[in-house]
Amino acid sequence: MTIPDSTPSDFSHEFFGSLDPQALAHPDSIKWQHYGEGVIPMWIADMDFPVAPPILRALEDRLTRGLGYPLGRDDRLIADLQTKWASQGLTDVPADGIHFTPSVVPGLYAGVHGLTEPGDRVVTMTPIYHPFHLAINDLGREVAAAPLREGDTRWEIDWDALERAAEGARLLMLCHPHNPCGRVWDADELARLRELVLAHDLYVISDELHADLRFTDAPFEAFAADPRVRDRTLTVTGPCKAFNTAGLGIGVMVTHDPELLARVQRRVAGLGGHPSALSFTMWRVALEDGGPWLARTVEYLRGNRDFMTAFLRERLPWVRFTVPEATYLAWLDLREHPEAGRIQEFLLEEAKVAVHNGPTFAPGEQGAAYQGFIRVNFATSRAILTEALERMARALDTRQG
Ligand SMILES: Cc1ncc(COP(=O)(O)O)c(C=O)c1O
Repeated sequence: MTIPDSTPSDFSHEFFGSLDPQALAHPDSIKWQHYGEGVIPMWIADMDFPVAPPILRALEDRLTRGLGYPLGRDDRLIADLQTKWASQGLTDVPADGIHFTPSVVPGLYAGVHGLTEPGDRVVTMTPIYHPFHLAINDLGREVAAAPLREGDTRWEIDWDALERAAEGARLLMLCHPHNPCGRVWDADELARLRELVLAHDLYVISDELHADLRFTDAPFEAFAADPRVRDRTLTVTGPCKAFNTAGLGIGVMVTHDPELLARVQRRVAGLGGHPSALSFTMWRVALEDGGPWLARTVEYLRGNRDFMTAFLRERLPWVRFTVPEATYLAWLDLREHPEAGRIQEFLLEEAKVAVHNGPTFAPGEQGAAYQGFIRVNFATSRAILTEALERMARALDTRQG
């Protein structure tokens, strides 16, 4: 057996290794409640890990000061974010190019609403985090999907398909790093994407929410790092993936063009809502004091990713997948299995493991292309991950015959 030792370092084990499924299944956890008792949930994208201690302490302190309307801006948080973005190539972000949202998805919707008109074509690369195509369709725009291509070791952009999709389109919605394929678009790909955007005169929404969960050593390069595309790009991001704070929603829309931001804001106006006072505190403390927690979390997730990779190669070698460069999500191709046509239900029934179903990640009928694929969330303890993989292997092997 070439599967690495499943016992992580002592510290990580103390921190994340002893998660108790009973405790995780608290009544307001959609992840653990949705499929009921006995099912290991590996579908929705949050982590099973507890809140970082500095965040917990800061929230307790914040609560002692009442919960009236927040200012809606936090100058220290803005300065922290400007520093962080500058390290990703987003230098000189103006303070009036920043608008906080109750979470990231409202920023996706606001961006589509503000940058396009009903009927406009909006380009995205499938498979894709489903609120991308939901936002486009819900708002009466048209999805122009360019399917990604499976390379030998990673999912890649199909440039011909992307060129065709961009023809006559108004906006490109980019997911960087990409959910569900785990790609961090590299410098060459980003450069080519920028040329395409300029050639087709497209606006861009770049969702960079997973940027802090990278397993590569290369520094993260934001799409709008190149000044030539800054004024046409709305970057959206938030703390919820890196710090596991989705239950305390906050996100941000960022652009170098305050006029563009004002246009987007006007379109959604009061519908946009505002983030909670607690979420501002949480994000600031995450940036200022959460670094060591985040580093350990990424180390633990990298261990889970490598463990899962070795397990699949050893036990289920017919499952095709590329190793994610970022995110705690794995995109697995199980189309060779006899139950591929109902693979999500099959795993739920036979393995008692809940995963996200492939067709979710493309709009409408285009989802059929991903039947037999699943997205698996591996952000849990090594013990729970091992149990889930063992259950899946047993169920899949039986039918594989
Ligand atoms: C790429 C991407 N954007 C946005 C979200 C959701 O962000 P939020 O919960 O802050 O709306 C997710 C969640 O999985 C995601 O993967």
